[in-house]
Amino acid sequence: MACLDQVVTDRYAIYNGDSCETLRSLPDESVGMVVYSPPFATENGGALYCYSSSVRDLSNARTYEEFFEHYRFMVIEYARALKPGRIAAVHCMDVPKQGANICGYSDFPGKIIKLHEELGFDMLPRYCIWKEPLAVRNRTMSKALAHRQIVEDATLTNCAAADYLIPFRKKGANPEPVTHEHGLLEYAGERTVPKELHKYKGWTGNQIQNRYSHWIWRNYASCFWDDIRLGRVLPYEESKAEGDERHQHPLQLDVYDRAIVMWTNPGDVVVEPFMGVGSGVYSAVMNGRRGWGSELKPSFFNQAVINCEAAGKKPIEVNETAEFDWGDDPEVEQETMARESDKYDDTDPIDEEIAAVEAEE
Ligand SMILES: C[S@@+](CC[C@H](N)C(=O)[O-])C[C@H]1O[C@@H](n2cnc3c(N)ncnc32)[C@H](O)[C@@H]1O
Repeated sequence: MACLDQVVTDRYAIYNGDSCETLRSLPDESVGMVVYSPPFATENGGALYCYSSSVRDLSNARTYEEFFEHYRFMVIEYARALKPGRIAAVHCMDVPKQGANICGYSDFPGKIIKLHEELGFDMLPRYCIWKEPLAVRNRTMSKALAHRQIVEDATLTNCAAADYLIPFRKKGANPEPVTHEHGLLEYAGERTVPKELHKYKGWTGNQIQNRYSHWIWRNYASCFWDDIRLGRVLPYEESKAEGDERHQHPLQLDVYDRAIVMWTNPGDVVVEPFMGVGSGVYSAVMNGRRGWGSELKPSFFNQAVINCEAAGKKPIEVNETAEFDWGDDPEVEQETMARESDKYDDTDPIDEEIAAVEAEE
């Protein structure tokens, strides 16, 4: 297996490498959960946001078909490494065919679902992560979201598309149920658990009476996650390489915290193959699980090293120290990958598109 750099501790293992290769080192049926956000492929080739110019980067697929051919290698690998009955949760959205212009959308989630069904997963109902329309308009400069468009011709408008988290359950019987003996203990979101329910937190009696956990469960079991704190993300500004304008918006920690706490046991290994600045690994470690992550772009990986180190400082609680075999030791294949990263150029198509819309308005 090839990677440029790595940090391996007893609580997390992170690699600067291509996940098509790094995932191969994970032992069969050893992983408790997979969670990530892939590059959002567009039907015309490329992706909504491009991260680097490496040919290994999924955001550089020349066609939609090529994207899914490439992505398939990763799904095959984590399907092998995941325990039966466990969850792979994929963050995605409907993708505009022409960026910020008025255009049709592609059913990117539908293609992801088809791929997972082909590779031995059952899809579960998706969670919608609500987005505030004006904030989306200001960030994307989407013409279809401008108030002016409602005034001029409302047929050319659309809603602020939700993000989705789609859980897929690997077929087979889960060898170890994921239990919450005393119910759910923390809420990840904008709302707060009503004060009068606090006396039930960690309730050791009959769980039917655990109104604290019940309140959290009702929010988590809702198909609309409408109070995800959009600003609760890991530091990422520093991860921009010099002169690099490429996009990185880390996924909100509330999304990871909900998914990881719901679907894993303490000590389980949580895998994030598109690690970015380390959000999934950070959340796993902060919640008493072990994190495994792999990221292609060196500057994002370097930021993940800082972020995961901060999580690793959280005191270890009981049952989290059991040794885990992280798989084969990756050998460092610096030369090829370093040569590839020299090829990064600094232009981000989405920025150009936004600048063009701004100039027009
Ligand atoms: C949507 S971003 C993930 C952001 C991440 N969720 C976070 O919170 O920081 C997708 C990431 O996939 C990475 N990537 C693309 N192709 C890859 C590959 N073949 N192997 C590993 N990472 C890859 C990109 O560099 C980018 O950081």
